[in-house]
Amino acid sequence: MTKVTILSLQDMKRDRKKIAALTCYDLTTARLLDEAGVDVLLVGDSLGMVRLGHVSTLPVTVDDMVYHTRIVARANPRALLVTDMPFLSYQASIEDAVRNSGRMLKAGAEAVKIEGGTEIAAVIRALRGFGIPVMGHIGMTPQSVHAFGGYKIQGRMKNQAAKILADARAIEKAGVFAMVLECIPAELGRRISRAVKVPTIGIGAGSNCDGQILVVDDILGLTPPPGPRFIKRYADLRKLIKQAAQDYAREVRDGKFPDAEHSYE
Ligand code: KIV
Repeated sequence: MTKVTILSLQDMKRDRKKIAALTCYDLTTARLLDEAGVDVLLVGDSLGMVRLGHVSTLPVTVDDMVYHTRIVARANPRALLVTDMPFLSYQASIEDAVRNSGRMLKAGAEAVKIEGGTEIAAVIRALRGFGIPVMGHIGMTPQSVHAFGGYKIQGRMKNQAAKILADARAIEKAGVFAMVLECIPAELGRRISRAVKVPTIGIGAGSNCDGQILVVDDILGLTPPPGPRFIKRYADLRKLIKQAAQDYAREVRDGKFPDAEHSYE
């Protein structure tokens, strides 16, 4: 199977082939997701919530993202490897954005993802100018959780929807190679996907996006239910892991493990 690049994602949109993306934070999962044929691995700043125990993505640092990117990159994936730029690593100045994105690329990322619309277009243009591919992210952007008053669907009101569509056009013009649309009505997801030439990757944005992304811990059933409506659980690893640990602990306590088969003569 050939390496996925930013160009292959654009070909997939042209050929109407859906893009399957997942987040990824560690080596074992990266190898498995890549063997499964996932197209994009995103070292998402959701890392902070699903793996580091923070209540939002805001505390995640550039060092956290570099560390996890380096680990995922060791899987040498066929999938395109994209890393999230964490809160305050790109908003304050173009210099910050270039320096911090550069660290992600040095760690093995092939592109960075940044949240924001019209207001962040200049940053996208600058990164693009320095040869750093950028994936956009609009709609319900988790780094703005406090401004939204919580993790709430965006774009239900006409003026909000018009703003999100304008954001999509602005970041496309600024040079993103793809954009994540998060938690917006399906109809708005469809309109944006038709309005822009670059692939749209939805998360809670309906079935008409050019691809979909979910948090890997959610699809594996590692995060506690219920979670947002857009999550679909394809496995129940919480149950499997707890069961395996309970069986192991019971056998140790009962003196059943290790038995002869698992001991040296
Ligand atoms: O950090 C993240 O997990 C994301 C999503 C789009 C899945 O940005």
